[in-house]
Amino acid sequence: MLSASKILDAFRSVKHPDEKSNIVELGHIEDLIVKPERVSFTLVFRKPGDPFEKSMRAACERKLKELGMAEGTELNIGSRYLKKIQHAKEADQKAEMLPHVRNIIAVASGKGGVGKSTVAANLAVALAEGGARVALVDADIYGPSLPIMFDLVNEKPFATEVDGKTRIEPLERYGVQILSIGFFVDPSKALIWRGPMASSALTSLFRDAEWGEIDYMVIDMPPGTGDIHLTLVQNLPVTGAVIVSTPQEVALADARKGVAMFRQKDINVPVLGLVENMAWFTPLELPDNKYYIFGNGGVARLAEELNVPLLGQIPLVQGVRESGDNGMPAVLDKTSPVYPLFRDLANEVRTQLAIRHSIYAPTEVVKMNDSNDPACQS
Ligand SMILES: Nc1ncnc2c1ncn2[C@@H]1O[C@H](COP(=O)(O)OP(=O)(O)OP(=O)(O)O)[C@@H](O)[C@H]1O
Ligand SMILES: [Mg+2]
Repeated sequence: MLSASKILDAFRSVKHPDEKSNIVELGHIEDLIVKPERVSFTLVFRKPGDPFEKSMRAACERKLKELGMAEGTELNIGSRYLKKIQHAKEADQKAEMLPHVRNIIAVASGKGGVGKSTVAANLAVALAEGGARVALVDADIYGPSLPIMFDLVNEKPFATEVDGKTRIEPLERYGVQILSIGFFVDPSKALIWRGPMASSALTSLFRDAEWGEIDYMVIDMPPGTGDIHLTLVQNLPVTGAVIVSTPQEVALADARKGVAMFRQKDINVPVLGLVENMAWFTPLELPDNKYYIFGNGGVARLAEELNVPLLGQIPLVQGVRESGDNGMPAVLDKTSPVYPLFRDLANEVRTQLAIRHSIYAPTEVVKMNDSNDPACQS
């Protein structure tokens, strides 16, 4: 039987000659629908009139035949061309938020301290490993942690002037473009920000930054389901949400709230799936032992209950905490026990994104202008 993940696996050997990586890593398969009688998907090209369009389509078709796609199966391959990077001024006039960011992934939870930042950081690095252009935005305005996790505590992004407007250049680390409110303010002072100020500072991280063309933008959300979340999901075309939880009941209850928030009618952001963090503990000296400190399988059960995929399970490993504190996400160490797990998580996220576009229309932004900005409403 053909399945979305089998097809995407096979497409990993299809590569555009001008790209660094294959079409799956780069998220160039969208709207994937796999049914017994029909397979359809959209191939994404960076520019119209791509000279390799025909050969890319033929390569995909060949892969499907090799996989055993039955004779007579209807095959529809559409094409989509990315927009050319516009001048900042033109983009502003169109008031389109992040027009060159193809997939925006919000990493959230209901509860604090369950590992959102850790998952967001490692997911971003894992997505970038294959050559995709990845951005990571620290939206935790009250407790930014990405500067520490990426060893960028004393770094400051440059500001450039484009058409009389100040644009912020994100910092790059481990192949990921990063912005955090922590780069601009003393983290201890960020704690006393009032809601409206925090919201407008946050939107400026997206609106006033020179992001360029990005395949995946990962957003590390603050804990809870409050104002900041609403500001974000209402102002950005978030493609999908990844909800992180630990397996114990109190965390699951909050994860349920997190999922419910994204599913609210006026927000309506698809939930790509759940990640179980601290799923078990394995001591360094007993690598084959698993201790289910926070309970066993809680997030898998929640995923089933909510009818969303379980994207991955990450154990509690001392090295994950250490690498976070040392400014090098654990996934950078290929010998780490979590390296294959985060790599698989990135694959699962790519798969869900490829399928997502076929199920839902692009997320609509409620409105993005200053009158919608709480800071401007006094
Ligand atoms: N799988 C893991 N193994 C070991 N330590 C972990 C793991 N996941 C997270 N941690 C550690 O737990 C702490 C909390 O993680 P993290 O900061 O990622 O959580 P968070 O959900 O982003 O928290 P907050 O709600 O405060 O933003 C950190 O010290 C981190 O290094
Ligand atoms: Mg965090």
